[in-house]
Amino acid sequence: MKIIKKIKFKISADGSSASGKTTASKLIAKKFKMRFLSSGILYRFCALKTIENNNKCNEKLVKKIVKSITLKKLDNKKLYNPEVTRLSSIIAKKPFVRNALKSFQKNFIKKSSLVVVEGRDIGTKIMPNADLKLFFTCSTKEKAKRRLKEFKSLDQKISLNQVEKALILRDKEDTGRKISPLIKAKNAVLVDTTKLSLKQMEAKLINLVKNSIKKKYGNLQRSKLTSH
Ligand code: C5P
Repeated sequence: MKIIKKIKFKISADGSSASGKTTASKLIAKKFKMRFLSSGILYRFCALKTIENNNKCNEKLVKKIVKSITLKKLDNKKLYNPEVTRLSSIIAKKPFVRNALKSFQKNFIKKSSLVVVEGRDIGTKIMPNADLKLFFTCSTKEKAKRRLKEFKSLDQKISLNQVEKALILRDKEDTGRKISPLIKAKNAVLVDTTKLSLKQMEAKLINLVKNSIKKKYGNLQRSKLTSH
């Protein structure tokens, strides 16, 4: 009897705000039929709930908030409000917030054989054994332009200068914090998206993923890459 081994392939995608990691991770997930998780949205959800709880944020409350998370609840435009965005990087410094979300992420990853997770500490803390680690970077000017476009599509009124300032502040907080700072894992592949068009980025990522899968499993038929 021929035994077909279940394929397992896990990708981490880290990087600063608006560096392109979310777009890239979604592209990979679609192309390779992988499950996708944005860890940033989990921090945003905790921030939104903190605001709704009169800015109360303690361990007991956060555990309750994290228990209540469903994928449906994460599909909420309010999670991208500037106030929520700002608070998300403040509460992300709290060890009890990170620990509660770490369990959520680990659980999600454990249940998926093919998965791509994006964030700030995925390759370093959440999935240190990821098969492929990506680290995204982009110039601040380009990042601000991209974010401004997103804000406009959400009907949020904000200037390019304000967007740039907010990005710089958040990146500074994320790279400078004591626990789980934003840092490139030693074995991560650096992807600079500053001058890449969407098509160019897609081609680059597909190549990277294909080569990495080939390294682990040899040549595979596409149909085998669909197990979850
Ligand atoms: O990626 P996104 O901008 O949605 O993340 C919102 C905030 O959540 C980040 O600025 C960061 O402070 C925090 N975050 C984190 N670790 C992650 C993902 C996000 O600290 N893995």
